[in-house]
Amino acid sequence: MSMSFPIQKTVIRGRFLDIQSLVSQADQISQQVRYFEDGLMIVEQGKIRQFGHWDELNQHLSDTDIIEHYPEQLIIPGFIDTHIHYPQTEMVGAYGEQLLSWLNTYTFPTELQFKNPHYAKGIADFFVQELLKNGTTTALVFCTVHPESVDALFEAAEALQMRLIAGKVLMDRHAPEGLCDTAERAYEESKTLIEKWHGKGRALYAITPRFAPTSTPEQLEKAGQLKQEYPDVYVHTHLSENKDEIAWVKDLFPQQKGYLDVYHHHGLTGKRSVFAHCVHLEEDEWQCMHQTDSAIAFCPTSNLFLGSGLFPLKKTWEKQVKVGLGTDIGAGTSFSLLQTVNEAYKVQQLQGDKLSAYESFYHATLGAAKALDLDDKLGNFNIGKEADFVVLDLKATLLQRLRQSKSKSLEDALFALFTMGDDRNVEATYVYGQKVYQKD
Ligand code: GUN
Ligand code: ZN
Repeated sequence: MSMSFPIQKTVIRGRFLDIQSLVSQADQISQQVRYFEDGLMIVEQGKIRQFGHWDELNQHLSDTDIIEHYPEQLIIPGFIDTHIHYPQTEMVGAYGEQLLSWLNTYTFPTELQFKNPHYAKGIADFFVQELLKNGTTTALVFCTVHPESVDALFEAAEALQMRLIAGKVLMDRHAPEGLCDTAERAYEESKTLIEKWHGKGRALYAITPRFAPTSTPEQLEKAGQLKQEYPDVYVHTHLSENKDEIAWVKDLFPQQKGYLDVYHHHGLTGKRSVFAHCVHLEEDEWQCMHQTDSAIAFCPTSNLFLGSGLFPLKKTWEKQVKVGLGTDIGAGTSFSLLQTVNEAYKVQQLQGDKLSAYESFYHATLGAAKALDLDDKLGNFNIGKEADFVVLDLKATLLQRLRQSKSKSLEDALFALFTMGDDRNVEATYVYGQKVYQKD
């Protein structure tokens, strides 16, 4: 007996906006903006099969196709969050501390709870829903030291076919005993998780040393060994976020040239290495980031909340270093990439620099895909890419409605959305061609 499986097909009509291709300078982005006032996207088996003007493409449709029409809304590629901690979901808005005391006072006690797999599952499920509610379809995620915390997150994402990158935290010093592994255990547990999850469906694995101060040189060496054995997994950590942190690293690793050199020395820089923050990089560190093709996760709400400093986004273009945006929940204050670009704009204003709406859009979509080495699969609506997208309502509040009625151009409308927007603007989210979130 032969079995036939129906082709999963989704047909979307509406206003589409994306960035067609990668650029090397900010002033080239506006030439790559692609907008269809009345567009059509046909998705089959999770991938984009057709994309263009409704008038030109609708003859490909058959009578039985169900067309989901969004005439008023704006459809954009799913947001990509290049740095977030799922176990910190419950601790957003922890008062009064900067990085190192914030970790000891709030973060470590919170993360201890993830020893319990039921607890981890509860927060993982909540977290994934919160991403989708905010239009985020892919994220690079910190779990905790407990392997069970990684299973809980990947299982939650797998149920929705989400492309997620995550990993177990490695820490073997300067943290509570219940959050520490050892160099050897870090290696063994990570290896087991890589074998179990990396490349399973849309899941990808990241070797995740928390940051240099909480790993011994022996543990970092083991992390480097793992990266050598599995070159296509990611490396995900923190770098140069806070002045006291940087001084501490220099104290702990006197034989290294600086903070980034600690990671570089252990083989942890490279094309699939993502370093969160990089607020205070030195010249030679910018060079090293470029030469190794490593990427930065810029986390403006977190940098402001913890008083870490102002990230010089312009330098990423000057030095040709890949960058994406991160919410860095729970030091960051919002799951929304809309709120994140709002704060990114202000961080540049405080440095006398401008951040255009199209540049923000680039960093939140295609640029982030590039930072995660996933630009062949994600980031825009090119044919063959995975169909993750968000339907945005630009007039979700009375004030937004008034402001949008005055917008002078698409770019102006987008900038107003970025300044005022949040999860209220997300009407629906699609993952791999399927609607996985609809606003009430
Ligand atoms: N550096 C080391 N751990 C953390 C963390 O959990 N959050 C932030 N923002 N920085 C860190
Ligand atoms: Zn972080």
